[in-house]
Amino acid sequence: MPIKVSFTDLQLPKKGVVIFAVYDGKKLGKTALEHDKKLDGLLANTLENANRFKGKKGEMLTLVSPAGSMLSHIVLLGMGDPAKLDTLAAQELGAGLVGLINSLGEKSALLVPDWAEGVALSEEALAANIGFGTCLKSYRFDKYRTTLKPEDKPTAERLAIATPVAKEALTLYGRLEKVADGVFFTRDLVSEPPNVLYPATMADAARSQLADLGVEVEVLGEAEMKKLGMNTLLAVGQGSEKESKLVVMKYYGQGKTKAGDPVVLVGKGVTFDTGGISIKPADGMWDMKYDMGGAGAVLGTMMALAGRKAKATVFGVIACVENMPDGNAQRPGDIVTSMSGQTVEVLNTDAEGRLILADALWYAQDKFKPKVVVDLATLTGAIVVALGNHFAGLYATTQSLADQLLTASKATGERLWQMPLDAVYDKEMESDVADIKNISGGRGGGSANAAAFLRKFIKPETEWAHLDIAGTAWANKDQGVTPKGAVGFGVRLLDQWIAANHEG
Ligand code: BES
Ligand code: MN
Ligand code: ZN
Repeated sequence: MPIKVSFTDLQLPKKGVVIFAVYDGKKLGKTALEHDKKLDGLLANTLENANRFKGKKGEMLTLVSPAGSMLSHIVLLGMGDPAKLDTLAAQELGAGLVGLINSLGEKSALLVPDWAEGVALSEEALAANIGFGTCLKSYRFDKYRTTLKPEDKPTAERLAIATPVAKEALTLYGRLEKVADGVFFTRDLVSEPPNVLYPATMADAARSQLADLGVEVEVLGEAEMKKLGMNTLLAVGQGSEKESKLVVMKYYGQGKTKAGDPVVLVGKGVTFDTGGISIKPADGMWDMKYDMGGAGAVLGTMMALAGRKAKATVFGVIACVENMPDGNAQRPGDIVTSMSGQTVEVLNTDAEGRLILADALWYAQDKFKPKVVVDLATLTGAIVVALGNHFAGLYATTQSLADQLLTASKATGERLWQMPLDAVYDKEMESDVADIKNISGGRGGGSANAAAFLRKFIKPETEWAHLDIAGTAWANKDQGVTPKGAVGFGVRLLDQWIAANHEG
């Protein structure tokens, strides 16, 4: 269970853990100073004697069984330069508290952020964002660990944040907590092993988790997709025992009218990518359980939006398949007709994400006539080469959509870097025998080639952005507000993008 965050007034507890804020230059806040009188100047003395602790962001100094109180620990927490204490810095500070409380072996703690003059955030936003960071970082996926030793189990269960604006902070946090629910839903799905999470169970998860929140969920099986002519999607799944599924989710946030153009989010949901007949090497193939990270992010975003009752109409379409090699699998050289009518020469069965997205994107546009479509996909190893694990690649048909997404990226810390969507990459996708081929055959620019391929399935009137999240869906180490493992990349970003551009 993630840490439960609450907000209280400035009444300090007699027992347990209290964390006091210290700003740059060893400056104690107002509440801390008041409390220090009762402690006979213990905090001031400690700061005077502390040689290394300066109050820089994230620094911590722990006093055990402090004299003159019944508290088990007092922790001094460096807040850094007030002017630099913005939303993301506050979230990071909050994230750091998870490790702290666990290392003390405590269940709960009380934090006194002691808002200071010049902090780049309002008092309630500071408290709420610290709590958001703590909550996000405290996520764990332990359900299959039956022999975890008690000393390895996390102890932290609750964080109380003391602030004179507890009510306002709670209101802000209420919304952030819904976003965290969405992030955790995505992380759960991405963490599940591929024997448990496959297209049908993904569709079940969409139904069971989203229906109660008022999201309409419809699932298309292979027979229905066949009728619609979604052959490039079906071709990817034809080597698997598991039935391919297209999950369509509808959230109406504009009242009961069900009018207006929806924003459509599309996700790549390859629940396991062996590469198919163009099979991948054994080493590291296990990573391909997170090849459904794009679809996972769409599900999590739908949960966040519905949970916080966003005032926007948003549809989600996820293409769920398993890419396996068997006697019925598609072959390199096959030519398949997509739902759009364009024929595709499949030269590499491991370039499968673009094949399923081609049909999912076409279906979404054909059926819902959206003005804007954003897709997320763990699409290419090439984007990992280009940007590492820190940025996702952003491709967009208009600069204004790219700018909206870049702004949301800066606000949430889910980093995007714009990449070229350019006709020069189209040329390399031309086939000798079909309308288009699924790989360029060249050496470089694989992510841009994949984006160029996808653009062939975007209607001229649709504004479209594509996020290549192959490098950002999974974290090999702890970082900021994300523990090691499934990141839930895209949920905070898309939630923020919709809040800023589609709820006006
Ligand atoms: N799912 C992979 C891309 C990927 C790589 C995701 C690393 C996450 C981490 C995708 O389906 C794939 O195999 N792409 C190929 C495309 C190539 C055959 C043109 C790749 O990137 O090698
Ligand atoms: Mn692949
Ligand atoms: Zn893949």
